[in-house]
Amino acid sequence: MSDTLSIKDNRTGKEYEVPISDGTIPASALRKIKVDAEDFGLMAYDPGLKNTASCRSKITLIDGDKGILRYRGYPIEQLAEQSTFVEVAYLLLHGELPNKPQLDKWTHEITVHTYVHQFLIKGMEGFKWDAHAMGKMTSMLATLSTFYNDSKKVRDPEVRREHIIKIIAKMPTLAAWCFRHALGRPYIYPDNSLSYVGNFLNMLFRMSEPKYEPNPVLERALDVLFILHADHEQNCSATAARNVGSAETDPYCSLAAANAALYGPLHGGANEAVLRMLREIGDVKNVGSFIEDCKSGGRRLMGFGHRVYKNYDPRARIIKGLAHEVFQVTGKNPLLDIALELEKIALDDEYFVSRKLYPNVDFYSGLIYQSMGFPVEFFPVLFAIPRACGWLAQWQEMLEDPEQKIARPRQVYVGADLRDYKPLDAR
Ligand code: CMC
Repeated sequence: MSDTLSIKDNRTGKEYEVPISDGTIPASALRKIKVDAEDFGLMAYDPGLKNTASCRSKITLIDGDKGILRYRGYPIEQLAEQSTFVEVAYLLLHGELPNKPQLDKWTHEITVHTYVHQFLIKGMEGFKWDAHAMGKMTSMLATLSTFYNDSKKVRDPEVRREHIIKIIAKMPTLAAWCFRHALGRPYIYPDNSLSYVGNFLNMLFRMSEPKYEPNPVLERALDVLFILHADHEQNCSATAARNVGSAETDPYCSLAAANAALYGPLHGGANEAVLRMLREIGDVKNVGSFIEDCKSGGRRLMGFGHRVYKNYDPRARIIKGLAHEVFQVTGKNPLLDIALELEKIALDDEYFVSRKLYPNVDFYSGLIYQSMGFPVEFFPVLFAIPRACGWLAQWQEMLEDPEQKIARPRQVYVGADLRDYKPLDAR
């Protein structure tokens, strides 16, 4: 048995042999399939890239049918249980778990870069008080690019490393600025004696107390949420980071593009959309009619369905458990009952079952965020902070991969044929 695919072109009767490797065929091999010498050659047509592998990656594995997620081979359940976000960030970027000295150095490097130059606060001050947090975050990431001119040397591994650390360190600081700007509260400087998440909570919530003491349950819960959101292979925002980065754009602007992609309600904006949906449903008694609306195509059940998972999203399972721990501290979120009822009905309904629509990561995360005191428009930012680490790992892998080129898909032109320009008075 040879690892090839035989193709017969019924237009010409010619036969072709195309190599198969890792369950894929090279799309470029189709180009030799032509009707005549003038023909451009066959292309694959794949809107939304639903069945196109655009890279080889060693970072994250998802088996959507089995509901499996692993970072660098480690099951997400083990990482959520035993690791920390800072350690997971190292793992995603370096490929291996750090030993003690490596982790200490990594933690130190991230901790000492948490400050952002005061000058950039002027950028924050330019936003209207009700500007969406993700718009501000995207702009601030792009603004950092103007501040770090040397980050343009993307082919230099040392420069890359320096800015990877800076971005991971500064994401919580920028996010906290976005949060406090909306509330009209003064910005809080980082407290580098706290953990990554502890310091983030400090920059968000500290008021007049001399030292902020994060609640250990909430600190750990947010750390676990950060672990769960750190990477998810070739999703829309990671693809944006890779595509923009493939033009050798600096990491700040590449991540601004990724952040803009994450903002959308079909991607990272879904956690915000879930909360708005739960509020709109308002009562358990309205769940049935809402589900009927979704089935008739009137709307989508937000937080349900996934391009890759055709099984329960393993992150959703962990978050559901986490929610109960958080509610012990914050009190139960009254929207939880509506969410549980939605899940119960949907998991038993032929429409959702036949389409393999299960809760995804965003279904329960918003309930936790809301109970912790975050406004809905801030939810996607809480997704963006840890995902920046995944974007950076994907961006770096793309730059180090000799097979990668600037992203430039083809199209099937279906527009007007050649025609002559008509002057305005002749139209
Ligand atoms: N509610 C109702 N019907 C749905 C839903 C939903 N949430 N998701 C998919 N469907 C239906 C869809 O109408 C279609 O039905 P039919 O075959 O009759 O036309 C079928 O299921 C397949 O849907 P699709 O749109 O072709 O699937 P997709 O892979 O293109 O979309 C998705 C994936 C996540 C965009 C979609 O499931 C969705 O819009 N979900 C709600 C938004 C959401 O929760 N997004 C967060 C994703 S997880 C976090 C992340 O990775 O960003």
